[in-house]
Amino acid sequence: MKAHDGMYIGGQWRPARGPDTIAVVNPADEQVIAHVPAGTADDVDDAVRAARGALPGWAATPPAERAARIAALRDVLVARADEIAETVTAELGSPLQLSQTVHAGVPVLVAGSYAELAASYSFEEKAGNSTVLLEPVGVVGAITPWNYPLHQVVAKVAPALAAGCTVVLKPAEDTPLTAQLFAEAVDEAGLPAGVFNLVTGLGPVAGQALAAHEDVDLVSFTGSTAIGRQIGATAGGAVKRVALELGGKSANVILPSADLAKAVKVGIANVMSNSGQTCSAWTRMLVHKDQYDEAVALARAAVAKYVPGERIGPLVSAKQQQRVRGYIEKGIAEGARLVAGGPEAPLETGYYVSPTVFADVTPEMTIAQEEIFGPVVSLIKYEDEDDALRIANGTVYGLAGAVWAADEAEAVAFARRMDTGQVDINGGRFNPLAPFGGYKQSGVGRELGAHGLSEYLQTKSLQF
Ligand code: NAI
Ligand code: MG
Repeated sequence: MKAHDGMYIGGQWRPARGPDTIAVVNPADEQVIAHVPAGTADDVDDAVRAARGALPGWAATPPAERAARIAALRDVLVARADEIAETVTAELGSPLQLSQTVHAGVPVLVAGSYAELAASYSFEEKAGNSTVLLEPVGVVGAITPWNYPLHQVVAKVAPALAAGCTVVLKPAEDTPLTAQLFAEAVDEAGLPAGVFNLVTGLGPVAGQALAAHEDVDLVSFTGSTAIGRQIGATAGGAVKRVALELGGKSANVILPSADLAKAVKVGIANVMSNSGQTCSAWTRMLVHKDQYDEAVALARAAVAKYVPGERIGPLVSAKQQQRVRGYIEKGIAEGARLVAGGPEAPLETGYYVSPTVFADVTPEMTIAQEEIFGPVVSLIKYEDEDDALRIANGTVYGLAGAVWAADEAEAVAFARRMDTGQVDINGGRFNPLAPFGGYKQSGVGRELGAHGLSEYLQTKSLQF
């Protein structure tokens, strides 16, 4: 695969400061497909300097003009969609169709939404005898994970640019090629030099240097809870803004009045998509005791369609494959009943995990509490609605969820009682304008839509 051997800083590809590189591996066949530079603190410093230099000009650019540049960026993402999809498939392993529709498609919607928001957002408010100015926070350090290589980047960069901030991106080491493509798109879209900068590298080196850099005003991080905690502490110590999008253990609550077959089928699809590597995946399916056996049979039938190597891809890396297989073994050891799948790898080559369904899972089991981040669903039985609510809210997380009922109002009444940031009612469609983010330990702050834009703004009040 095509790869740049430098960093995108100050509007050009520049040689990295150090000699180290990262091998990019295709998880479907375990072959090394490219190398990218492993950035150091010096590269990060160069990038932050470029972003700082570009900040006054970009912050002062009229919002309509910022909107036009973001629209141009969206257009490049459209024009290069095939290349983006092929690159995501090569480094993440997702089936090409998923790469086309979701990995290449969703960022176009999100970039488009911020082109519109930048043009229509009110960057000035009145409050009594005050005028409140909504100004860019400054230089943003964005640290992104590999599970949605382009979406995670666009969900941070597009609102930051719309707000008038400048950005340094440190993408995940597993999926740097998509990030390099994004930098090319930024360049093609004609954004001023230094407004967006890319440093590839390892988390504990380049990521750490970016999060700790004293000239970064806001750190936006998506990834594991462990690293998020660390970044939050570092940012707190330096009194800088932070947004954290961490894990989830979302509940798919099927109320007795629901269309059970549809709810189970969509629920399984929700987890199997992207091989379960989705922070908002509904990994706990909550079913009423009287419908439980039927739901188990439906889940077994639904999961059989996800054939590894065809409809479902591998996990991103050997490390993630090991981790997920470890959770499946733990589920068996804790007494859950394996209905489909299991810990054995389904294919000899590639980091595949068998699509797995557990029944007889109790709410306190490890597989019902911790984020697995693989194609594993746990079916949990509930006695009545209050019991379902206790189980749904009974983890440290609160990122997403689903409720199914015959009557929409019944589902909404239940959703109001859930401690979580997003709930899909009877399989509601994805909305790029809906704020996304966590209650409890799923994170701090929101992404997407107007709420996602406001993360990158700070207020100044003028009194008259
Ligand atoms: P991770 O949290 O290590 O990686 C996410 C990003 O943080 C990457 O860009 C990485 O380079 C960077 N990073 C790592 N250490 C850092 C540090 N000390 N300072 C600054 N940046 C650092 O996640 P990993 O190891 O790839 O996945 C482990 C687990 O995390 C998954 O199994 C899953 O449970 C969770 N995860 C959650 C995601 C989400 O969307 N919320 C996305 C990816 C992983
Ligand atoms: Mg890889």
